Amino acid sequence: MTSRLQVTEIERVRESLHAAHSVFVLTGAGVSAESGVPTFRGGGNAAVWKGMPFYEISSAGMVERDLPEVWAWFDYRLGVLSDLKPNPAHKTLARWQDKFSSFTLATQNIDGLHQAAGSRDVYELHGNVWTARCIECDARSDVRRLGAARPPVCLDCRNPMRPDVVLFGEMLPVGVFDRAVDAARTAEVCFVVGTSALVYPAASLPEVAKRGGAFLVEVNPEKTPLTEYCDASLRGPAGELLPLLGFE
Ligand code: APR
Repeated sequence: MTSRLQVTEIERVRESLHAAHSVFVLTGAGVSAESGVPTFRGGGNAAVWKGMPFYEISSAGMVERDLPEVWAWFDYRLGVLSDLKPNPAHKTLARWQDKFSSFTLATQNIDGLHQAAGSRDVYELHGNVWTARCIECDARSDVRRLGAARPPVCLDCRNPMRPDVVLFGEMLPVGVFDRAVDAARTAEVCFVVGTSALVYPAASLPEVAKRGGAFLVEVNPEKTPLTEYCDASLRGPAGELLPLLGFE
């Protein structure tokens, strides 16, 4: 049962959204939770692989030390992802892209579910798990085209390939973050959906939007360090709340 406070909050957000021309959205693992993708931190426990915390197996150091084991972890995640479908949160955000003169969707997720829901030009701040990158020549390939060899071998220079995702200890891909900052800075409304807002520099984007004058909205069942800066907080699952904001 939606509380009276939540109804009012939804109304306030709906009004700001329908009055906006430029909208910026940042998503995290929580937007894919209702599709069955495990989050990293929400719910109090952290993902672990063979006793290693996710930030260790998903690290630049691990690529140096044991690339086959990194692939074993990512192949497990590809296995989980391969049967999963976008949920109403992904689908709602895909519909929003044609409703505003300026709409930007930036995600920390590497699952490709926004694109599967029909979102175009998604700013993938942390890369995409379906893509591999050559450690020597930087050539990229769809993992599904690379056969079973692990690590996969580059089709251009025959060197080993690694997952084309941003690992712990690595910088974000040049360009995509800067474009996200520019879009956030000029947004009238900024949505932060399904992120614990703990990992930088992605977590700085809502702050950039707020300083730029944006109406800041958080959608998350739990409070985050960002909550106190928000103009509105919608407490609950994104797949249930985003469709309530109209444009369906
Ligand atoms: N709808 C909205 N939010 C949800 C839902 C849901 N159905 N279910 C969980 N959440 C929220 C949780 O309350 C939590 O605040 O989503 C958030 C998920 O947080 P994390 O697991 O920390 O994921 P994220 O913020 O995306 O992590 C950032 O850290 O591990 C790295 O590179 C990885 O991109 C990731 C980054």
